[in-house]
Amino acid sequence: MPEVPSYRIFASSQSASKALAEDISQLIRSRDSEERTTVLGLATGNTPVQLYKELIRMHRDGLSFRNVVTFNLDEYIGIDREHPESYWQFMHSHLFNHIDINPENIHIPEGMVAADNIESHCSAYENQIEEAGGIDLQVLGIGRNGHIGFNEPGVSPDVATHATELNQVTINDAAEAFGGAADVPQRAITMGVKTILGAQRIALLAFGSSKADIVERALTSGITSEVPATYLQSHNDTTFFLDQDAGKRLS
Ligand code: F6R
Repeated sequence: MPEVPSYRIFASSQSASKALAEDISQLIRSRDSEERTTVLGLATGNTPVQLYKELIRMHRDGLSFRNVVTFNLDEYIGIDREHPESYWQFMHSHLFNHIDINPENIHIPEGMVAADNIESHCSAYENQIEEAGGIDLQVLGIGRNGHIGFNEPGVSPDVATHATELNQVTINDAAEAFGGAADVPQRAITMGVKTILGAQRIALLAFGSSKADIVERALTSGITSEVPATYLQSHNDTTFFLDQDAGKRLS
Protein backbone atom coordinates (compact mmCIF):
# COMPACT_ATOMS: atom_id res chain seq x y z
CA MET A 1 0.00 0.00 0.00
CA PRO A 2 1.28 3.48 -0.77
CA GLU A 3 2.04 5.60 2.26
CA VAL A 4 0.14 8.86 2.37
CA PRO A 5 2.60 11.76 2.58
CA SER A 6 2.81 13.28 6.02
CA TYR A 7 1.80 16.87 6.49
CA ARG A 8 2.59 19.61 8.98
CA ILE A 9 0.32 22.60 9.51
CA PHE A 10 2.10 25.73 10.70
CA ALA A 11 0.72 28.93 12.20
CA SER A 12 1.84 30.90 9.15
CA SER A 13 3.49 30.51 5.76
CA GLN A 14 6.52 32.18 7.28
CA SER A 15 6.92 29.60 10.03
CA ALA A 16 6.44 26.78 7.49
CA SER A 17 9.12 28.33 5.26
CA LYS A 18 11.47 28.73 8.22
CA ALA A 19 11.01 25.09 9.22
CA LEU A 20 11.89 23.88 5.73
CA ALA A 21 14.85 26.27 5.51
CA GLU A 22 16.07 24.84 8.81
CA ASP A 23 15.80 21.28 7.42
CA ILE A 24 17.71 22.33 4.30
CA SER A 25 20.47 23.99 6.31
CA GLN A 26 20.84 20.90 8.50
CA LEU A 27 21.07 18.73 5.40
CA ILE A 28 23.75 20.96 3.87
CA ARG A 29 25.76 21.11 7.10
CA SER A 30 25.56 17.36 7.66
CA ARG A 31 26.64 16.57 4.10
CA ASP A 32 29.38 19.22 4.29
CA SER A 33 30.73 17.47 7.39
CA GLU A 34 31.03 14.27 5.34
CA GLU A 35 32.63 16.26 2.49
CA ARG A 36 29.70 15.44 0.24
CA THR A 37 27.75 17.80 -1.98
CA THR A 38 24.07 18.46 -1.38
CA VAL A 39 21.77 18.21 -4.39
CA LEU A 40 18.62 20.32 -4.13
CA GLY A 41 15.66 20.30 -6.51
CA LEU A 42 14.07 23.76 -6.53
CA ALA A 43 10.74 25.30 -7.48
CA THR A 44 9.68 28.77 -8.58
CA GLY A 45 6.38 30.61 -8.09
CA ASN A 46 5.00 32.65 -5.20
CA THR A 47 5.11 29.85 -2.66
CA PRO A 48 8.88 29.36 -2.15
CA VAL A 49 9.76 33.07 -2.03
CA GLN A 50 9.84 33.16 1.79
CA LEU A 51 11.88 29.94 1.88
CA TYR A 52 14.50 31.56 -0.34
CA LYS A 53 14.50 34.72 1.80
CA GLU A 54 15.14 32.58 4.84
CA LEU A 55 17.97 30.68 3.11
CA ILE A 56 19.56 34.03 2.16
CA ARG A 57 19.29 35.13 5.78
CA MET A 58 20.94 31.89 6.90
CA HIS A 59 23.70 32.43 4.34
CA ARG A 60 24.36 35.87 5.86
CA ASP A 61 24.62 34.09 9.20
CA GLY A 62 27.25 31.69 7.85
CA LEU A 63 25.52 28.92 5.88
CA SER A 64 27.57 28.20 2.76
CA PHE A 65 26.18 26.93 -0.56
CA ARG A 66 29.64 26.23 -2.01
CA ASN A 67 28.97 22.49 -1.98
CA VAL A 68 25.37 22.71 -3.15
CA VAL A 69 24.21 21.65 -6.62
CA THR A 70 20.72 22.69 -7.75
CA PHE A 71 18.27 21.49 -10.37
CA ASN A 72 15.15 23.52 -11.07
CA LEU A 73 11.91 21.81 -11.86
CA ASP A 74 10.97 23.66 -14.99
CA GLU A 75 11.23 26.55 -17.44
CA TYR A 76 8.90 28.07 -20.04
CA ILE A 77 9.72 27.29 -23.67
CA GLY A 78 10.26 30.28 -25.94
CA ILE A 79 11.38 32.96 -23.51
CA ASP A 80 15.01 33.77 -22.91
CA ARG A 81 16.84 34.03 -19.62
CA GLU A 82 16.58 37.80 -19.51
CA HIS A 83 12.78 37.76 -19.78
CA PRO A 84 11.39 39.08 -16.45
CA GLU A 85 9.13 36.03 -16.09
CA SER A 86 11.76 33.40 -16.93
CA TYR A 87 12.46 30.98 -14.13
CA TRP A 88 16.17 31.61 -14.70
CA GLN A 89 15.53 35.25 -13.82
CA PHE A 90 13.31 34.33 -10.87
CA MET A 91 15.88 32.01 -9.32
CA HIS A 92 18.73 34.47 -9.73
CA SER A 93 16.84 37.41 -8.28
CA HIS A 94 15.19 35.48 -5.43
CA LEU A 95 18.11 33.26 -4.43
CA PHE A 96 21.22 32.65 -6.50
CA ASN A 97 22.43 36.28 -6.70
CA HIS A 98 22.47 36.44 -2.90
CA ILE A 99 24.32 33.24 -1.93
CA ASP A 100 27.77 31.78 -2.58
CA ILE A 101 26.65 28.99 -4.94
CA ASN A 102 29.04 28.18 -7.78
CA PRO A 103 27.22 29.21 -11.01
CA GLU A 104 28.39 25.93 -12.58
CA ASN A 105 26.34 24.06 -10.00
CA ILE A 106 23.08 25.73 -11.04
CA HIS A 107 20.90 23.80 -13.49
CA ILE A 108 17.69 25.17 -15.01
CA PRO A 109 16.11 23.77 -18.19
CA GLU A 110 16.88 26.02 -21.17
CA GLY A 111 13.74 27.72 -22.48
CA MET A 112 15.25 28.77 -25.82
CA VAL A 113 16.43 25.34 -26.90
CA ALA A 114 15.66 24.68 -30.60
CA ALA A 115 12.66 22.40 -31.20
CA ASP A 116 14.91 19.69 -32.69
CA ASN A 117 17.10 19.66 -29.59
CA ILE A 118 14.45 19.55 -26.88
CA GLU A 119 14.56 15.80 -26.48
CA SER A 120 18.34 15.64 -26.18
CA HIS A 121 18.28 18.63 -23.82
CA CYS A 122 15.80 16.78 -21.58
CA SER A 123 17.80 13.56 -21.53
CA ALA A 124 21.00 15.53 -20.83
CA TYR A 125 19.20 17.13 -17.86
CA GLU A 126 18.35 13.68 -16.50
CA ASN A 127 21.98 12.60 -16.98
CA GLN A 128 23.21 15.64 -15.08
CA ILE A 129 20.92 14.77 -12.16
CA GLU A 130 22.21 11.22 -12.17
CA GLU A 131 25.85 12.31 -12.41
CA ALA A 132 25.29 14.65 -9.45
CA GLY A 133 24.23 11.60 -7.43
CA GLY A 134 20.46 12.17 -7.58
CA ILE A 135 18.37 14.76 -5.76
CA ASP A 136 18.67 14.73 -1.97
CA LEU A 137 15.75 17.04 -1.35
CA GLN A 138 13.17 18.28 -3.85
CA VAL A 139 11.15 21.40 -3.04
CA LEU A 140 7.72 21.52 -4.69
CA GLY A 141 4.75 23.86 -4.90
CA ILE A 142 1.36 22.69 -6.14
CA GLY A 143 -0.84 24.17 -8.86
CA ARG A 144 -4.57 24.64 -8.23
CA ASN A 145 -5.08 21.81 -10.73
CA GLY A 146 -2.76 19.52 -8.78
CA HIS A 147 0.28 19.92 -11.01
CA ILE A 148 3.76 19.45 -9.61
CA GLY A 149 6.47 21.04 -11.70
CA PHE A 150 4.58 21.38 -14.99
CA ASN A 151 3.26 17.83 -14.81
CA GLU A 152 -0.29 18.67 -15.73
CA PRO A 153 -3.43 16.55 -15.22
CA GLY A 154 -3.29 13.40 -17.36
CA VAL A 155 0.49 13.01 -17.11
CA SER A 156 2.02 9.55 -16.77
CA PRO A 157 4.13 8.80 -13.69
CA ASP A 158 6.72 7.07 -15.88
CA VAL A 159 7.90 10.12 -17.79
CA ALA A 160 11.22 11.83 -16.96
CA THR A 161 12.18 15.39 -17.99
CA HIS A 162 10.13 16.36 -21.03
CA ALA A 163 8.42 19.17 -22.94
CA THR A 164 4.75 19.67 -22.19
CA GLU A 165 1.75 21.81 -23.12
CA LEU A 166 0.53 23.98 -20.26
CA ASN A 167 -2.96 23.37 -18.95
CA GLN A 168 -5.52 26.21 -19.20
CA VAL A 169 -5.67 26.62 -15.39
CA THR A 170 -1.89 27.04 -15.36
CA ILE A 171 -2.03 29.59 -18.19
CA ASN A 172 -4.80 31.56 -16.44
CA ASP A 173 -2.84 31.57 -13.18
CA ALA A 174 0.22 32.99 -15.00
CA ALA A 175 -1.77 35.51 -17.07
CA GLU A 176 -1.42 38.46 -14.72
CA ALA A 177 2.37 38.16 -14.56
CA PHE A 178 2.61 38.05 -18.37
CA GLY A 179 0.11 40.89 -18.92
CA GLY A 180 -2.62 38.60 -20.31
CA ALA A 181 -3.23 34.90 -21.05
CA ALA A 182 -2.33 35.41 -24.73
CA ASP A 183 1.26 36.20 -23.77
CA VAL A 184 1.80 33.22 -21.47
CA PRO A 185 4.03 30.62 -23.14
CA GLN A 186 2.00 27.56 -24.14
CA ARG A 187 4.76 25.06 -23.46
CA ALA A 188 7.44 24.31 -20.90
CA ILE A 189 10.21 21.86 -20.11
CA THR A 190 9.65 20.10 -16.81
CA MET A 191 11.19 17.37 -14.73
CA GLY A 192 8.79 14.44 -15.00
CA VAL A 193 6.92 12.75 -12.18
CA LYS A 194 9.49 9.98 -12.49
CA THR A 195 12.31 12.48 -11.89
CA ILE A 196 10.51 13.99 -8.89
CA LEU A 197 9.76 10.59 -7.34
CA GLY A 198 13.47 9.75 -7.74
CA ALA A 199 14.36 12.35 -5.08
CA GLN A 200 15.38 10.96 -1.68
CA ARG A 201 13.13 13.37 0.12
CA ILE A 202 10.34 15.68 -1.09
CA ALA A 203 8.98 18.80 0.64
CA LEU A 204 5.83 20.31 -0.85
CA LEU A 205 4.89 23.83 0.25
CA ALA A 206 1.32 25.08 -0.07
CA PHE A 207 -0.09 28.28 1.38
CA GLY A 208 -3.43 30.07 1.32
CA SER A 209 -7.05 28.98 1.01
CA SER A 210 -6.87 28.77 -2.79
CA LYS A 211 -4.77 25.62 -2.26
CA ALA A 212 -6.96 24.00 0.43
CA ASP A 213 -9.10 21.86 -1.91
CA ILE A 214 -6.24 20.58 -4.01
CA VAL A 215 -4.09 19.85 -0.95
CA GLU A 216 -6.94 17.77 0.46
CA ARG A 217 -7.33 15.87 -2.83
CA ALA A 218 -3.57 15.34 -3.17
CA LEU A 219 -3.43 13.74 0.27
CA THR A 220 -6.71 11.88 0.50
CA SER A 221 -8.00 10.89 -2.94
CA GLY A 222 -6.59 7.76 -4.55
CA ILE A 223 -3.64 8.04 -6.90
CA THR A 224 -4.91 9.47 -10.18
CA SER A 225 -3.26 11.11 -13.18
CA GLU A 226 -6.01 13.76 -12.95
CA VAL A 227 -4.28 15.11 -9.83
CA PRO A 228 -0.55 14.61 -10.49
CA ALA A 229 0.33 15.46 -6.86
CA THR A 230 -1.41 12.22 -5.80
CA TYR A 231 1.59 10.39 -7.29
CA LEU A 232 3.48 11.62 -4.21
CA GLN A 233 1.48 9.01 -2.26
CA SER A 234 3.82 6.42 -3.77
CA HIS A 235 6.94 8.16 -2.39
CA ASN A 236 8.18 7.11 1.02
CA ASP A 237 9.59 10.41 2.32
CA THR A 238 7.29 13.26 1.35
CA THR A 239 6.07 15.99 3.70
CA PHE A 240 3.59 18.75 2.93
CA PHE A 241 4.46 22.03 4.72
CA LEU A 242 1.16 23.92 5.00
CA ASP A 243 -0.13 27.08 6.57
CA GLN A 244 -3.49 26.99 8.34
CA ASP A 245 -5.46 28.11 5.28
CA ALA A 246 -3.99 25.49 2.95
CA GLY A 247 -4.47 22.81 5.60
CA LYS A 248 -8.00 23.78 6.67
CA ARG A 249 -9.74 20.81 4.99
CA LEU A 250 -7.55 18.26 6.74
CA SER A 251 -8.71 16.91 10.05
C1 F6R B 1 7.20 26.10 -10.25
C2 F6R B 1 6.34 24.96 -10.47
C3 F6R B 1 4.86 24.98 -10.23
C4 F6R B 1 4.45 25.81 -9.01
C5 F6R B 1 2.94 25.83 -8.85
C6 F6R B 1 2.49 26.72 -7.71
O1 F6R B 1 8.54 25.78 -10.54
O2 F6R B 1 6.84 23.98 -10.91
O3 F6R B 1 4.41 23.66 -10.08
O4 F6R B 1 5.04 25.27 -7.87
O5 F6R B 1 2.34 26.29 -10.04
O6 F6R B 1 2.78 28.05 -8.02
P1 F6R B 1 2.61 29.19 -6.91
O7 F6R B 1 3.63 28.91 -5.88
O8 F6R B 1 2.91 30.47 -7.65
O9 F6R B 1 1.23 29.09 -6.39
